Parts: sequence; structure tokens; C-alpha cells
Amino acid sequence: MPQAVRFDEYGGLDVLRIVEVDRPVPGPGQAVVRVKAAGINPGEAKIRSGLLAQRFPATFPSGEGSDLAGVVEELGAGVTGLAVGDEVLGWTDNRASHAELVVVEAAHLVPKPAGVSWEVAGALFVAGVTAYAMVRAVSLRAGDSVVVSGAAGGVGSIAVQLASNAGATVIGLASEGHHDWLSRHGVIPLTYGDGVADRIRAASGGRMDAFLDTFGGDYVELALALGVRPDRIDTIANFAAREKYGVKIDGSAAGGTPEVLAELAGLIGSGQLEIPIAAVYRLSEVREAYRDLEQGHTLGKIVLKP
Ligand SMILES: NC(=O)c1ccc[n+]([C@@H]2O[C@H](COP(=O)([O-])OP(=O)(O)OC[C@H]3O[C@@H](n4cnc5c(N)ncnc54)[C@H](OP(=O)(O)O)[C@@H]3O)[C@@H](O)[C@H]2O)c1
Repeated sequence: MPQAVRFDEYGGLDVLRIVEVDRPVPGPGQAVVRVKAAGINPGEAKIRSGLLAQRFPATFPSGEGSDLAGVVEELGAGVTGLAVGDEVLGWTDNRASHAELVVVEAAHLVPKPAGVSWEVAGALFVAGVTAYAMVRAVSLRAGDSVVVSGAAGGVGSIAVQLASNAGATVIGLASEGHHDWLSRHGVIPLTYGDGVADRIRAASGGRMDAFLDTFGGDYVELALALGVRPDRIDTIANFAAREKYGVKIDGSAAGGTPEVLAELAGLIGSGQLEIPIAAVYRLSEVREAYRDLEQGHTLGKIVLKP
């Protein structure tokens, strides 16, 4: 029987377990995918801990995971444009990708370009479409200066490259161990913490056009203090700031379409976008994978491989 991650109550890492489940059956318009790789995301840890119980409640037993890449194993009725054996990447909205087999809406799958690894393809959806939506939300133009907080994280590491591809000068806030990676990707790295506003002013020559906040805390207030207009600030971790300051909160819901996913996969395939893979864990090591992620200092993405 296929294996899948489950949890039966909100809690810490110890509520996560691997169980044997029935083989999933595709309904009309769906496909069964044999998962080769599936990314993990901080939002899943927040859901599991109960932190988002009001906003995104879980029903138990709960599965987990949105991102996935794998091979189509079975098709439901009425699916066109997809064949058994196709290599695909995509997502499920049913908290189910951390498993050996997953039922996916065929419309949520796109072809995996040959040059894209399973790990990268399986880690792309949430972080990729979120970064895409953030960069789009602030309408970056060539010559703009933009700051990205959490610049080396899952979302940030993609956002800095998309912003740079748009012609912007990108300042990335990250811990020192990640500065080298940022520099190699055309980003001006700065350490966060005390004095960060002065460091940003010095690095930018005093002009700052846009701010992408992937961390939360008081980065929206920092962006406003730097003189960035609210409509050119996007945060994915401080939702109250929309009401309070009129900033944008475009994230995965705004960017999560097959067209955006396919565009990002194409950029990776053509070498214009890199997804750094910090670590790969077996499905059976799901607790270790989240322990690693929940330290909060990942460079890029952590991936599970069934
Ligand atoms: N709204 C949405 O649609 C949406 C979608 C995806 C993610 N999110 C949320 O966005 C956040 C980031 O997600 P992610 O996948 O990028 O997470 P991640 O990969 O775990 O990255 C976390 C980042 O936070 C940085 N960081 C840690 N401590 C910090 C501090 N004290 N000050 C400033 N930065 C600090 C880390 O930088 P260093 O490692 O360099 O220290 C790292 O880059 C999470 O809260 C997630 O839930 C929201």
C-alpha cells in the first residue's frame, strides 16, 4: 500500500507520522501522480501546529503538502493533454502531496522541462508562484531599487532573481552565511537587525522604489520609513498591514496558476532562474525535514523524496 504523511491533532513535530493508505482513485478531470519530490513550506508547519486554525482549519486525519513533481500513473475520465508516463510538476489544494501517490487536478499539472531536476520541480509551486506574485504586485521596472527581506529563503531566493531579471537593483536582507549566494545572483546583500535602515540607505544612495517582505515583523514599517509608497510594498507575512497601511499582500493565491508555474519552470529550464535546494529528506524523515525548516534559516528549499 502507498505511504503518506498524516497527523491526527494539532501539535509539534511528533504528531507527524507515515501511514499506509488506500491507493488513490482519480475522479473525472484528475490524475494520479507517483511523487518523485515534494517541497515543504512554513505554512504547513503553521497549519500543523494549530497557529492558523481560524484561517485555515485542519480536518483530521490530515494529510499535508501542496508542491509536487512526479510521473502520471493513471488518468480519470475526460482528461486531455496528459498521458500515463508524463513527467509533470504542479500542486494539490488538498494537503496531500507528501505521499507516494497523490490525486491531482489535471489542470494543476504542467510538463516538467527535461533540464529541471525532480527536487527543483517538486519544490517550485508555493514559493515560486508567491515570489512571482510579489514581484508583479509592485510593478518593477528597469532601474528601480527594491529591498527583499528574507532574501535567501524559499520565496525570497526566487523573488530576488525575478526582480533582478526585471532590471531592478536588488538589495537582499539575509544572515551573513547567505551573502555569498546573493552576491553571485546579482543581489546586494545586507545583514538584517540593528541599523538595517541606515545600511539600506547607504547601499541604495537613498532612493528606494519598492519593498518585498517575506518575513513579517516590522518590515512594512521599515519600508514606509524608507519612503516606499504603500502600493509598491508587498508582504506575505503581515496581513494586518493591508488594512493598516494600504500595502499589498499578493502571494500564492494571487500567483497560483498553471501559466505562472509553467513560465517559472521554463525560466529554470533555460537557466534564467535557480532554485537552491538546501536539503533533501526521505518521506520517512518528514519530522527531520520540518525540524530543519522550522529553524527559519533555510537557503532556498527543503524537499521530501518518497
Ligand atoms: N501569503 C502567502 O501566500 C505565502 C506564501 C508562501 C510563504 N508565505 C510565508 O512567507 C514566509 C517565508 O516563507 P519561506 O518559504 O520563504 O520561508 P523560509 O524558506 O523558511 O525562509 C525564512 C527566511 O526568514 C529569514 N529570517 C529568519 N529570521 C529573521 C529575522 N529575525 N529577520 C529577518 N529575516 C529573518 C531567513 O533569513 P536567513 O536564513 O538569511 O537568516 C530566511 O530567509 C513564511 O512566514 C511563510 O509562511 C506566505
